[in-house]
Amino acid sequence: MKLTIIGSGYVGLTTGTCFAEMGHHVTCVDNNETKVKALREGIIPIYEPGLEDLIKKNVAVGKLKFTSSLQEALPEAEAIFIAVPTPPNEDGSVDLSFMERVAREIAEVLTPSMGYKVIVDKSTVPVKTGEKVAQTITHYAGKEVEFDVVSNPEFLREGCAVDDLLHPDRIVIGANSQRAMDVLKQVYRPFHAPILETDIESAELIKHAANSFLALKISYINAVARVCEKTGADVELVAEGIGMDKRISRHFLNAGLGYGGSCFPKDVKAFISISRQLGEPFLLLEEVERINEEQHERFLNRLRDRLWVFRDKKIAVWGLAFKQNTDDIRESIGIKLCQKLVAEGAIVSATDPKAMGTARPILEPIGVNFVDDMYECARDAEVLIIATEWADFANADLQKLSSVMRNRIIFDGRNIMSPDNLKTMNFEYHSVGRPSV
Ligand code: UGA
Repeated sequence: MKLTIIGSGYVGLTTGTCFAEMGHHVTCVDNNETKVKALREGIIPIYEPGLEDLIKKNVAVGKLKFTSSLQEALPEAEAIFIAVPTPPNEDGSVDLSFMERVAREIAEVLTPSMGYKVIVDKSTVPVKTGEKVAQTITHYAGKEVEFDVVSNPEFLREGCAVDDLLHPDRIVIGANSQRAMDVLKQVYRPFHAPILETDIESAELIKHAANSFLALKISYINAVARVCEKTGADVELVAEGIGMDKRISRHFLNAGLGYGGSCFPKDVKAFISISRQLGEPFLLLEEVERINEEQHERFLNRLRDRLWVFRDKKIAVWGLAFKQNTDDIRESIGIKLCQKLVAEGAIVSATDPKAMGTARPILEPIGVNFVDDMYECARDAEVLIIATEWADFANADLQKLSSVMRNRIIFDGRNIMSPDNLKTMNFEYHSVGRPSV
C-alpha cells in the first residue's frame, strides 16, 4: 500500500520505517528541511537500536523516502498518518496546535480527484481530537473531498521501538466507518497482531488510559518501596511476590527514581487535565504524579542525610538518558539530579553510554564535567549515583570501581546492582526500597 507519515520524530520515523519493512511504500514528510536532507543522506536524528539499518535497507530498495512536500506525498497515499508532537501546555493540558496546522495543510492539498483518503491520528491526543481533525479538514477542504479520520494510537517504547512496532501486542483502530476500518486493517495485515476495533473516542482514551495505568504501577511500587525502607523489607522480593499473580504481572513494578521520558509525565498530566475539564477529576492520577515527583527528592534527602552537605564534594552520576537504550533526556531524572547537586555546590561528573551529546548543552553550561569512561567518571568521587538502568552499569567491574572511588559509597536509584556483591566488595550501598548494606 502507499502510505504517508507526516512528522519524522520518534513515532513517525520508526513507524514509517517499520511499515516499509513490512512491505508498504512509505513517504515520510517533515517540515524541517535540514532533517529531511540528513535522512536522505542516511543521517538518523535519534539513537534507536536497529533503526538505522532498517532505514538504510528500505531506502535502498525504494520502499522508504523522505520529503518536505505534502504536495508530493499526499496525492497517491491511501492512508495519511499524522505523527506530530502534542506537547504539554503550562497547565498540563495538551497543545494541539501542530495537529490543527497539519489538518489544515492536508486540507489545502487534498482535492476530490485524489480519491478517498484515510487520515490517521497516530499522535497521542486527548479524547475527541479525531472529531476536531475531521471538522477542520472538512472546513478547509470543502465537502467534496472524500475522507475519514481514524485513531490508531502507538504503543512503542523508546529503546525497543523497532521490535515493539514489528511485533506489537495489539493494534488499536478506532474508526466510525467500515471503509476506513478496512483500509487500516489492510495496513496492519502483514503484522499478524491482534486487532481491536473500536470507535474513535475509545481508541483515543485507550492510549491515555494505558500510559497512565503503567505510570500508576510504577508509583504504586515506589510507594510500597517507602514502606519497605521503614520496615526492612525488600521491595524487589515484594514485587516478585505480587508479580507472580498473573492478574498483576511483574512488568513495570521496578522501584526506583520514578518515571521520566516524553510520554508518561506528559500523558498523566494530560489525562488529569482532560478529566478535570470533563468534570470527573481523576484524583488517583494526581496521587500517581505526586508520588513520582517526590521520588527523586526523597532519594536526594537520603544522600543529604549521608553526606550532610554537598558543597565541594565530588559526586559522580551514571545515567543521563531517561531510561536505558536511548539518547533521549526528556524529563530525565538523571538530569534533574545533576542540576540539583550543582545548585547545592557539588562538583558533579556525569556519564552515559548514549546521551552525552543530548545532555551536554543542558549540563555543561552549569559546570557538570562530562567523562566518557564510566570508571574515570567515578574517579575520586565520594559518592556514585546510578540514575539510569543501563546494562553497562549493572555489569560494572566492581574491582575497578573500588580502585578509583574516594569513598566506596553507591546510591543506586534503579536497583540494578546486587547488594550481596556490593557488600562482598566492601562498598556501602543504598538503593530504593531495599535495606542498605
Ligand atoms: C511509554 C510506554 O511504555 C509505551 O507503551 C508508550 O507507547 C510510550 O510511552 C508512548 O506513549 O509513546 P517510554 O516512555 O518509551 O514508553 O518508556 P518506558 O519503558 O515505558 O519507561 C518510562 C519511564 O518509566 C522510564 O523513565 C523508566 O525508567 C521508568 N520505569 C519503567 C520505572 O521506573 N519502573 C518500571 O518498572 C518501568
